[in-house]
Amino acid sequence: MAGRIPRQFIDDLLNRVDIVDVVDSRVALKKKGKEYVACCPFHGEKTPSFTVSQQKQFYHCFGCGAHGTALSFIMEYERLDFVDAVETLAADYQIEVPRESAGSPQNQDDKLALYEQLQKAAELYAAELKGSKRAIDYLKKRGLSGEIAKTFEIGYSPDNWDFILKKLGHSPGQIKHLLKAGLLIEKSASKQYDRFRDRIMFPIRDRRGRVIGFGGRILDQGEPKYLNSPETPVFHKGTELYGLYEARQAVRNLERIVIVEGYMDVMALAQHGVPYAVATLGTATSTEQISRLFRIVPELVFCYDGDAAGKKAAWRALENSLPVLHDGVQARFLFLPDGEDPDSLIRQEGQQAFEERLQSATPLSDFMLDHLSESLDLNSIDGRARLSDLAKPLIGKLSSGIFKDLLSQQLAQRVGLSSQHMQQHIPHNEPAAVSRPSKKPGRYDIQITPIRLAIALLIQYPELCREHELPEELKQLDIPGLQLLHNLHQTIISSQSFQPSAILERWRGQPDEGAINKLMLMDIPGSDNAEQRKQAFGDAIHHLLQQYKKQRIDTLLSKGQLDADEKAELSQLYQP
Ligand code: GTP
Ligand code: MN
Repeated sequence: MAGRIPRQFIDDLLNRVDIVDVVDSRVALKKKGKEYVACCPFHGEKTPSFTVSQQKQFYHCFGCGAHGTALSFIMEYERLDFVDAVETLAADYQIEVPRESAGSPQNQDDKLALYEQLQKAAELYAAELKGSKRAIDYLKKRGLSGEIAKTFEIGYSPDNWDFILKKLGHSPGQIKHLLKAGLLIEKSASKQYDRFRDRIMFPIRDRRGRVIGFGGRILDQGEPKYLNSPETPVFHKGTELYGLYEARQAVRNLERIVIVEGYMDVMALAQHGVPYAVATLGTATSTEQISRLFRIVPELVFCYDGDAAGKKAAWRALENSLPVLHDGVQARFLFLPDGEDPDSLIRQEGQQAFEERLQSATPLSDFMLDHLSESLDLNSIDGRARLSDLAKPLIGKLSSGIFKDLLSQQLAQRVGLSSQHMQQHIPHNEPAAVSRPSKKPGRYDIQITPIRLAIALLIQYPELCREHELPEELKQLDIPGLQLLHNLHQTIISSQSFQPSAILERWRGQPDEGAINKLMLMDIPGSDNAEQRKQAFGDAIHHLLQQYKKQRIDTLLSKGQLDADEKAELSQLYQP
């Protein structure tokens, strides 16, 4: 597990980047007055209502209501989760993302050393391929073009027990790293040897293109046919996907991803015009992998053999998809004719025919109901009841929405019940929805009260903190929002960061996230002028203090009996 990204790093990152560049490199912006505008990338429109404020480092669409920081923009635009968005943004600026705890400095250095050794190994294997006629002949026989071999950086590990050991293991420290990276195997403390020998080598890359492991195929017959890197600190089979990095490099705006079983399938598809396939690494497709893919594309097609083993693997994929299916995404299944895999099929049929197959792949809902019905007699009441028993818990795993309703309807049709009746019997599941900016159309017309004004001014112009302390006694004022005002003031002072979006990021996922975002969007008349906003902030604080005094006076008066201190306080409170 990677450690947490330090808070300070996110502050620094947002202080360093300019949202105008971040957006402009993805969606061309036009300067308009003090702001920048474009047609909104999150909803269809012909006249631009998507605005980016350089001062606030914040974007907002007046059409669909989308809004947020540079990080929110990357999350939405590239469909990434928060951590991936931080990684992406940092990578744009060539900054390494540090990690806390689990990624202690020692760990961190270790990992960097592993990445380095793996990259060097990939280069050595690739160079070896050039000199091995046997390996080249094998790849030719398999029909792989030189170009594709280069794109995927295919290599060859020579038939040698100490190739990597000799080339990269010059010190005990290096040998330790090679062992950790899975490139060497230890026989005894003083004896190590190469894991991969006489194999075609497929480097496996992470989302940033770093080599994290290898798959190695034997050239002739032999066991095992494929040898993969073991789990290492940088390589986790259950989360990584072969070919994902390459697909994202090849296609600017991916719309669909095909999931296949083998390395060779990914490459054959890429070579023949389907450069958007990925392979799991000899494991079932996990929920984590599926969820990651759905953040990148709205459509997945799982591609399996049509035989019993293929059906079983497909069913596992279906079960693992259910928790992350939501409206707006779809999963479908393509079963291949007997004895074919994507590699053999696309060579025979070509791109167009293969893409037609993808186009008419079986929707998840059909596959689910067909598969469950397989051994049942739907003409009998028993059979229909059984189908409904089997399907309900599966449908129950879906989050509420149109897709869930449609699937319940389909089930109802098959079993001959009204869908209303069916829906009453399907369990509810409300998974923690991916947090998206609320997309309420229109401006945020909120009433301006002193507390809202104070918070809005502070979040939009954090440097106001430098001019104004928050009076101590204000902490005791009992009105909604006061706590937020204090936290905000504290956060700005203690982080010494005066950039609106960096401050705002601190509230991501917090209960007040919605409130503070709204106040970031609030139009504050006259706030463009530094003097005026200073004045306005001072006035708002003054107003709140008056409110506090009034509240305190009421409290004291309602007590009846006052001691000396309270009497003194009361007369103090009555001073103007
Ligand atoms: P080719 O025979 O090269 O076309 O490979 P294939 O992908 O058609 O082979 P297969 O369908 O047998 O394997 C699909 C995937 O399963 C491979 O890409 C590997 O990831 C994995 N796999 C296959 N054989 C082995 C094996 O012997 N050991 C391990 N660990 N994985 C394997
Ligand atoms: Mn094959």
